Amino acid sequence: MGQVEILYTPFAAGALHLPNRFVMAPMTRNFSPGGLPSDGVAGYYRRRAEAEVGLIITEGVGVDHPAAVGRETMGGGASPVLHGDEALARWRSIVDGVHAAGGLIIPQLWHQGVIRVPGTGYHPDAPSARPSGIWGPTDKAMVSPDYLEQVRAPTAPLTDSEIGDLIAAFARSAANAKAVGFDGVALHGAHGYLIDSFLWRYTNVRDDRWGGGIAERARFAVELVRAIRAATAPDFPVIFRFSQWKLQDYDARNAETPAELEAMLAPLVDAGVDIFDASTRIFTAPAFDGSDMGLAGWARKLTGKPTIAVGGVGLSKDLQSSFAQPTVMTDNLALVADRMARGEFDLIAVGRALLMDAQWVRKMRDGGAVNPFRLEAYATLD
Ligand SMILES: Cc1cc2nc3c(=O)[nH]c(=O)nc-3n(C[C@H](O)[C@H](O)[C@H](O)COP(=O)(O)O)c2cc1C
Repeated sequence: MGQVEILYTPFAAGALHLPNRFVMAPMTRNFSPGGLPSDGVAGYYRRRAEAEVGLIITEGVGVDHPAAVGRETMGGGASPVLHGDEALARWRSIVDGVHAAGGLIIPQLWHQGVIRVPGTGYHPDAPSARPSGIWGPTDKAMVSPDYLEQVRAPTAPLTDSEIGDLIAAFARSAANAKAVGFDGVALHGAHGYLIDSFLWRYTNVRDDRWGGGIAERARFAVELVRAIRAATAPDFPVIFRFSQWKLQDYDARNAETPAELEAMLAPLVDAGVDIFDASTRIFTAPAFDGSDMGLAGWARKLTGKPTIAVGGVGLSKDLQSSFAQPTVMTDNLALVADRMARGEFDLIAVGRALLMDAQWVRKMRDGGAVNPFRLEAYATLD
C-alpha cells in the first residue's frame, strides 16, 4: 500500500472516532416517496458500512419546514425528511443497520431555499424561502431553460419571523437526528441552497442584520449552528459543508480572498462547527491565486478545524461533466494521500465512485476490480 496507508488510519474529532479517512459524500437519491426512505435505502447505506466506509453522510434530508424540499434541478422529488413518526422509525432502522455493520452515519440537513421550484414538494403551497426573494443571476446558470423559467420570478423576501422559523426547523431536525441515533449532523451550506443563499452576495442583498458583508451574511448559518448545538448536546458532532460554486454559477465565489473565507468561517467555529466539508468539483483545484492549496486546505489553515476535501476521487472527470457523458474510474489515491500527508485536509469524501461500487474503499486497499462507471447507476440503489 505504501503511501496510501495514511488513508486507512483512524481519525478522531471530538466525539467522532473514525476507523479510516474515507467519507461517503452526500448524494441525493430520490428513493423516499412521501419523504419516507424506502426499504432499499437501508441496504444501500448498510452495504457501504460493511465495506469499511469510515463515515457515511446521507443524501440531503429535508428539514422540518414546508418549503424544505421540492422538485429541483437535479430531478428531485422523492427526497427523505427527518420528522414524523414513520420517517423517524425508518431512519432509526437505517442507523441501526449501519451501526450493526460497524459504520457511522450522519444525515445531511437540507433546505433547498431559492433552488426549490415554487409550487412543488410535499407542501406545494408553501411560500418560497429566499433571503431576498431572488434566484440570483440567470446568465451563467448550469441548469435547463425549463427549470430556469420556473424559478426566475421573484418572490417575497423572508421576514424576520420566517427566518426564526427556519432556524427552529433545523434545530428540531437536528434533535430528531440525535434521537434516532445518528452520529452527528451535517449542514448543507453549499451549492446555492438556503444556507448558501444567505452567504452569497447575489442572492442576499438584504440591508438588515441578515445581510451586508460576508460576516453579516454568515449570521444565518451561525444562528443555525448555535440553535442546533442548543437542541442537541455540546459534543454532538456538527459538520458544515460550504462551497464557492453554485447551481446558479459554477464560477461563483462567496470568498474572493482568504481573508473573506476566514471572515465567513471563523464565526461558525465559535458557534460550534466541528468539521468543515469544502465542496469542490476537483479536490486539487487551487482555491486562490498564488498557491496550489485547495479550498479544504485553506479552511483548515484559517480555522484550525479538521476538514474534508472532495471532488474527482477515483474518477477521471468532475461531477458536472459526468452527468452529461460517462467518465472512467481511475486510481488517484496517491495524490489524495500526498495532500493529506502535507496537512491539507484530514478526511476525503467520495461520491460517484462509491455510487458505482459499494466495495470501493475495501477494493482500493485489498485489490479487486472496481466496477466501471455507468451513467445508469445514478438511477439505482445498488
Ligand atoms: C447523484 C448525486 C447527487 C448529489 N447530491 C448531493 C446532495 O444531496 N448534497 C450535497 O451536498 N452534494 C451532493 N452531490 C455532490 C457530492 O456530494 C460530491 O460533492 C460530488 O459528487 C463530487 O464528488 P465526486 O467527484 O467524488 O463524485 C451529489 C452528487 C451526485 C453525483
